[in-house]
Amino acid sequence: MDHKKEQQKQQAARAAADYIKEGMTIGLGSGTTSRYLIREAGKRYGQGLHFYGIATSRDSEQLAASLGIPLLEPEQAGKIHLAIDGVDEIDREFRAVKGGGGALLREKIIASWAEEVIWIMDESKLVERLGAFPSPVETVPFGMPFVKRRIADMGAVPVLRMGDGKSYLTDSGNFILDVQFAENTDISQAAEQIRNMPGVVETGYFGQMCSRIVAGTSSGVKVMEN
Ligand code: A5P
Repeated sequence: MDHKKEQQKQQAARAAADYIKEGMTIGLGSGTTSRYLIREAGKRYGQGLHFYGIATSRDSEQLAASLGIPLLEPEQAGKIHLAIDGVDEIDREFRAVKGGGGALLREKIIASWAEEVIWIMDESKLVERLGAFPSPVETVPFGMPFVKRRIADMGAVPVLRMGDGKSYLTDSGNFILDVQFAENTDISQAAEQIRNMPGVVETGYFGQMCSRIVAGTSSGVKVMEN
């Protein structure tokens, strides 16, 4: 474990928790940075700050429930006031790649419906250009081989994500292709093309969806606004 990175994630999570206000419904992200956020939010709930959570994965749901955060199902949630989640990569224009943890579908649904979105991270996630991290593409199992071939035809390298020796299954029962694009690919255009392929459920390319970045860095927490 990289302690410096973990510390930065934790700092970002703590700073982002300050944006949770009384009575809000909060989209709770997934992944290691979001786990710090959920723990911090749980602590604040215990200290008397009342809010509801809506989770982007079963994992986050279990953690939040174990900390006593009241959770809403989509049909119960009215407004989502704020979503806070991690990223795998983000560029200067606030365009991000997410889904390394496999929760991209629910993450995109929650972020799209939230009034405000904050991405939290350690400084290694801030990049000049997206693309070093393979972009996840969620497909229905039946469509996966077709989608995989079409992506390869684009000159990219799609790899079926595995877990415990079998195809990895998302919370929605789908497969994930991790796609390494050729250098200099315009990821936003490529993601749009892939999203239009029948069988694709969602891509891990998140355009400019957040209004604020909270990053833990070696010189403290940096907040950037869009
Ligand atoms: C989960 O599916 C992802 O989108 C995560 O938010 C992303 O992978 C960041 O994860 P870490 O906080 O673990 O780096």
